[in-house]
Amino acid sequence: MDSQVKTKTCACKNESEEEKLRRIEEVIEEYRDREGSLIQILHLAQGIYGSLPLKVQQFIAERLGIPLSKVSGVVSFYSFFTTEPRGENTIRVCLGTACYVRGGKKIIEKLRELLGVEVGGTSKDGKFTLEVMRCIGACGLAPAMTINDKVYKQVNPDKLSSILEQY
Ligand code: FES
Repeated sequence: MDSQVKTKTCACKNESEEEKLRRIEEVIEEYRDREGSLIQILHLAQGIYGSLPLKVQQFIAERLGIPLSKVSGVVSFYSFFTTEPRGENTIRVCLGTACYVRGGKKIIEKLRELLGVEVGGTSKDGKFTLEVMRCIGACGLAPAMTINDKVYKQVNPDKLSSILEQY
């Protein structure tokens, strides 16, 4: 049963812009009177839209009847909100002490070169977002990184391109 769920193609990929905004509107209506509603609405809107570009922020501000500056202020204050679309896959390279000492930076350099992005950016083909993170408890097998939920240990920068090809 589990595997069936995993292999299903998600329909929201094909969702149109209007459909996404309609869903965000439903969320706004549901949450508008709750305490801390703006943050909750932004979280859900990011989940629906994938990011919070200016036009989505404007949409939310208008529907809530609050200034755009208030919405933008919250979006820029919290690091978990992003205005850029995310890639299909998220690569996180560990820069905890052990991984840093054992070559975490080299992994980042190689990934920047292979993907043509800076840390925090998304590759042009929309496949990968590159981020860094702190220790994930695999220090004994440093350097480590993750792609989505999969952990890669003792990562060799020369093997990175063949790892990326699997995605
Ligand atoms: S420092 Fe990278 S896994 Fe612990």
